Amino acid sequence: ERTGRCVVAVDGPSGSGKSTVSRRLAVGIGARYLDTGAMYRAITWAVLRSGVDRADAGSVAKVADEVDLRIGTDPQGYGVTVDGVGVDADIRGPEVTGAVSAVAAVPAVRKLLVARQREMIVNAGRIVVEGRDIGSVVAPDADLKVYLTASAAARAARRSAEDASDVTATAADLARRDRLDSTRKIDPLAQAADAVVLDTTELGIDEVVARLRDLLTERGVA
Ligand code: DC
Repeated sequence: ERTGRCVVAVDGPSGSGKSTVSRRLAVGIGARYLDTGAMYRAITWAVLRSGVDRADAGSVAKVADEVDLRIGTDPQGYGVTVDGVGVDADIRGPEVTGAVSAVAAVPAVRKLLVARQREMIVNAGRIVVEGRDIGSVVAPDADLKVYLTASAAARAARRSAEDASDVTATAADLARRDRLDSTRKIDPLAQAADAVVLDTTELGIDEVVARLRDLLTERGVA
C-alpha cells in the first residue's frame, strides 16, 4: 500500500542525520520529501541578495513575501529556485548558513513558510518532512514524529566531513545555531511530547531508517 496518507515529521538539530534519514525513508516508503530548512535558507539567500538590512524584521518579511520561492519534493533530487534562479548550491554556503537563524526567527517569515509547508503536505498526502518545528507546529497531526539527536562531537564531525570544513569552527557554528534555534521566541527547535527520540551517535543511518519503517508498519501507515 503506497497510496494512503502518511505524514512523517522529522525534527532535530543540524548534524543529527535528519536529511539522510528523511530522504532514505521517503524513497523506501514511496513518499515525497520536504526539506523545510532549504526554504528558510532560500529566503535568507533572497534577503542577502536584496541588500536590505537583515536585522530589520520588516524588510526581511517584505522580501520573503515578494519572492517566488519554489522547492521540489522528489527525495532523490529536489531543486530550489528563487525568482527562477537555481540556488541549491548557494543556500549551503557559509554566507547563508551564517544568517539563516536570524531570518528564521522573524515571525512573519515563519508564518508564511509554515502556511506553504502545510499546503504542500496536504497536496502530497504521503510525505516525509524535516525541520525544527514539524511535529510541534507544522504537522501536529503527523502519523509519526521523530526527533533525532546526536552528541555535539558527532554532529560536528558529520558536518565537517560533508563540506570539508574545519571541525573546530563547525562545532562552534553548530553550537551558535543550536542556541539561536532553540531559544527563539516562536516555534523554537522542539521535541514534540509524542515524538520518538532516537540518538544517532552510535546508530547507523540504515538502522535508524529500519527502526522508523518498523514503527510505521506497527502503526499500519506504511
Ligand atoms: O536544517 P538546516 O540546517 O538546513 O536549517 C537551516 C536553518 O533554518 C536552521 O538554522 C534553523 C532554520 N529552520 C527552522 O527554523 N525551522 C525549520 N522547520 C527548519 C529550519
